Amino acid sequence: MSGMKRIQSPRSMQELGLEWRRQGICVGLVPTMGYWHEGHLSLMRWAREHCDLLVASIFVNPTQFGPGEDLENYPSDIERDSALAAECGVDVIFTPYKDEMYLPGHGTWVNVPELTKNLCGRSRPGHFQGVATVVCKLFNLVQPTFAAFGEKDWQQVAVIRKMTRELDIPVRVEGRPIVREADGLAMSSRNVYLTAEERAVAPHIQKGLCLLEGMVRAGERDCGALRKAVRDYYAAWIPSGVLDYLELVDPETIETVDHVHSDFLAAVALRLGKARLIDNKRINLEK
Ligand code: PAJ
Repeated sequence: MSGMKRIQSPRSMQELGLEWRRQGICVGLVPTMGYWHEGHLSLMRWAREHCDLLVASIFVNPTQFGPGEDLENYPSDIERDSALAAECGVDVIFTPYKDEMYLPGHGTWVNVPELTKNLCGRSRPGHFQGVATVVCKLFNLVQPTFAAFGEKDWQQVAVIRKMTRELDIPVRVEGRPIVREADGLAMSSRNVYLTAEERAVAPHIQKGLCLLEGMVRAGERDCGALRKAVRDYYAAWIPSGVLDYLELVDPETIETVDHVHSDFLAAVALRLGKARLIDNKRINLEK
């Protein structure tokens, strides 16, 4: 395919996707909501190396936003994203029309209740139903061989993996590492909401997780003590932040662990000004 193509009609996308699948072409998909940063681009560069045709989608999916969340203000710059897509070797940029993705009366939903009781599933009810449903639709429209997702949204990858496996969707789900700013802040489209003061303290979110890892490696096994230490750290270094959750969970089941296992995930969500920022750290004591 020469030059990058933009497709906005879901039906046209599906016709093309089905044709590619029939021809046995390896198609990689990177689903996004746009306003790209290095985290998105790293997924595209990685996918580019592993497929014949690369599709990136941009769709600010209304069904994954709750009331009072930032759907209306979600940042967007399609011109800039398109230029970046071309640089990354994207073949098709799929930017579906909102009213063609969800027709009036839409009433079919994908739910993965076991994995969504905790973390963001708890603080954003309905969020993962919106995510799972739109990703299922994107898989059916693009018909990719594989799709790449970032581990910044660890619970999201777990939900999409389980959905794909249990609904027999013929797409390989690839999780990729978190991309950070030089000072350790996990990249996010929502970082633009931060004021200069908030941006200056935001790297402490990750530092708190590093502190936790240090304590575990030094022998601390009490989850209560670990969480308290990080909460105190945040209170001291990010006094204006409001902790949404700080949990130690099993990386696959996303269930809270009572005792530190040899392999677990520390996950945090913190509100800082207008932004709700998330981060996580996998801690594997065997590695
Ligand atoms: P969005 O927040 O735009 O993120 C798109 C993809 O980029 C996701 O897989 C996300 O995990 C990944 N990503 C974001 N920040 C990252 C970082 N700092 N490092 C690595 N990867 C990062 O996640 C969504 O959109 C939506 O929920 C979506 C899956 C598109 C469904 O609507």
